[in-house]
Amino acid sequence: MKSKASAPGKVILFGEHFVVYGVKAILCAINKRITVTAEEISEKKISIKSNIGELELEPNKPISEINSPLKPFYYLADKIIQDKDSGIKIEVESEIPLGVGLGSSSACCVAGAAAISKLFENISKDEILKLAIEAEKTIFQNTSGADCTVCTFGGLMEYDKKNGFSKIESEPNFHLVIANSNVEHSTESVVEGVRKFKENNEKEFSKLCEDESYLIENVLELLKEDNVKDLGQKAIQNQEYLERIGISNDKLRDMIKIGQKTSFGAKITGAGGGGCIFALTDESNLQNTIKEFNEKNYECFSVKIDFKGLDTF
Ligand code: MEV
Repeated sequence: MKSKASAPGKVILFGEHFVVYGVKAILCAINKRITVTAEEISEKKISIKSNIGELELEPNKPISEINSPLKPFYYLADKIIQDKDSGIKIEVESEIPLGVGLGSSSACCVAGAAAISKLFENISKDEILKLAIEAEKTIFQNTSGADCTVCTFGGLMEYDKKNGFSKIESEPNFHLVIANSNVEHSTESVVEGVRKFKENNEKEFSKLCEDESYLIENVLELLKEDNVKDLGQKAIQNQEYLERIGISNDKLRDMIKIGQKTSFGAKITGAGGGGCIFALTDESNLQNTIKEFNEKNYECFSVKIDFKGLDTF
C-alpha cells in the first residue's frame, strides 16, 4: 500500500519581523511543491529518502536522540505506526530550495502528515494540520504554525499574534520572481538583532510598527483590487522599513535594485540577513525581470499563488 501527498511552499508577502511585535503579516502559498510518497513495509523500520539525505531507524526511538533535518518525518511515521506490526518507507521530492525561508520544512510536515496518515485512515485537513505543526515543533519549537497553515489551505492568509490566522478571499493574478542570495541565515539571530534595534530605538520602532500596520491595511485593499502596480509600491515602502531595522545587507540590496529595474517593486521575504527576495510582476514585465537577474548571475525562478494547498493522491 502506497500513498502520496504534496503541499506548496510559501512566502511572506508583507509584515515579517513586525509580526513578532503584534503587526499583521500577509503570507501566500506558492506553486512550487514538496511531494511525499509513503509506503507500508513488512520490515519494522522507518526509512526516509530525500535530496537532503537519508535516515533509517527502528521505530520507538526518543525524538530528542535524533539529530537530522528529517526528524519531523520520523516523528510522524513513528507516531502513526505505534500500534502496528509494520514499518514505513518515505520518499521526498522537492521543487523548493531548502532552508531559505520558502516554507520547505512546513511543506514537508504537511505533505508528510497527509501521506503517512492516509496509509491507515482518511483524516481531515484540520487534523493533518495539527499533526504537521506537532512535527514541525520537533525542529522549530516556537513555530507560530502560520507556515503549515498556509501550506495546508493554500491561497493568501493574514496572521497576527492576537487574532491568529484568517484566509484572504482575494485571488490576485501577479507573478513573483524569487531570487535566492544563497547566503545562509539564522532566523533566530536576525530576530534577536531586531529585538536589540527595538531596545535601542523604542520610539522609532513603535512608529515603524504603526507605519507597517497602515501599509498592511492598504495592501489588503490593493489585493482585493488586484492592483499589482500599487502593490509593487508597497513592497518598495516595506523594504525601506526592513532596511531601517537592519535586516538587509549589500547583497540583498543589490538584488532588490536589480529586481526593481523592471518589476513593480521588490523586497526581502522572511527573516532577511540572507535568504530570498521577491520582485512583483505581471505578464508584461515577468520575462524582463528574470532576464535582469540572470544577466547578473543571480539564481531566480517565478511563482504564482497556489490556491490548492495540500493535495493527496
Ligand atoms: C521568518 O520567516 C519570519 C519572522 O517574522 C519571524 C517570525 O515571524 O517568527 C522574521
